[in-house]
Amino acid sequence: MDRQREITLEFIRVTEAAALKASRWMGRGDKNAADQAAVDAMRGMLDLVSIQGTIVIGEGEKDEAPMLYIGERVGGGGPSDPKVDIAVDPIDGTTLTSRGLPNAISVIAVGNGGTLAALPSYYADKIAVGPQARGCIDINAPLKENLDRVARAYGVGTGELTAIVLDRPRHEEVIRRIRQCGARIKLISDGDVAGAIATAMEDSGVNILFGIGGSPEAVISAAALRCLGGEMQVKMWPRDEGERRKILDMGYSEADLDRVYETEDIAKGDSIIFCATGITGGDFLPAVRYDGSLAITHSVAMRARTRTVRYITAHHHLDIKTIPSRTEAREIEI
Ligand code: FBP
Repeated sequence: MDRQREITLEFIRVTEAAALKASRWMGRGDKNAADQAAVDAMRGMLDLVSIQGTIVIGEGEKDEAPMLYIGERVGGGGPSDPKVDIAVDPIDGTTLTSRGLPNAISVIAVGNGGTLAALPSYYADKIAVGPQARGCIDINAPLKENLDRVARAYGVGTGELTAIVLDRPRHEEVIRRIRQCGARIKLISDGDVAGAIATAMEDSGVNILFGIGGSPEAVISAAALRCLGGEMQVKMWPRDEGERRKILDMGYSEADLDRVYETEDIAKGDSIIFCATGITGGDFLPAVRYDGSLAITHSVAMRARTRTVRYITAHHHLDIKTIPSRTEAREIEI
């Protein structure tokens, strides 16, 4: 019996619950409240899944996060249930959620123990492409070379490519160079997990992601791209000398700081599962929608082993449905 196959849908329930709770805070201007609600729902739902899980990417260290902290044991499984690594981002796009802007999603990546590797830096430099351009990227090569190679892989001119980039002052030079090469740019204000996934979605119109974003998001994106047949390369990007020293003090070497982490280095093997649910709605997944006592969610579940991408629309009856809250230690309304 393929246990991984069985539990995949269980993780959809986890991101659904987080998205449902987060969506209640859409546009209310309080990103921390949105995040807390999503974290609480995600943590509560994880205990209903028959796994022996360990959070490897979550809300931070134990002393700074009450739930979903790194190293936390989650899941309701017994000794015979699978031991898995779990990377979560209850909301990728907390600001998007608090402002009611598109593309906030709730995500989880799961793999056998030792398959998801967190990076010690806060930020990482990233480059990502979909299956068609796999094998064509080199984060150390000039940007133009990457664009030219990807264009060749797609059989188009460089000017027909679209790159996705987080809209940040630190990307001024990258943006200038992409424009100089004649490629188009889709600037996003947040949410580079959905951005990386877009490179592997045929109908997204996005071919490549460039730029510096969160390191946890890099690993989660790599997990998604493992399931989609895409590729990601990542390098640590310490913000300053202090962070650089801190990473070295943790036992990493100068060579590690320069190292190119391939998709397979941070999201290893075929056991990876990735699930996401749309919160505010966007190119990747529609928003949570309310219709009287009904809430409708849109999610995706993918597995690296088969690369099946399964879209799931769920109708939740708010008058009868509850979800477990970890904070309140009881079932709560959605
Ligand atoms: P949050 O949901 O935690 O706010 O993260 C959103 C995000 O845009 C990520 O998708 C991205 O990797 C990161 O923030 C970029 O960080 P910064 O906003 O500091 O540039």
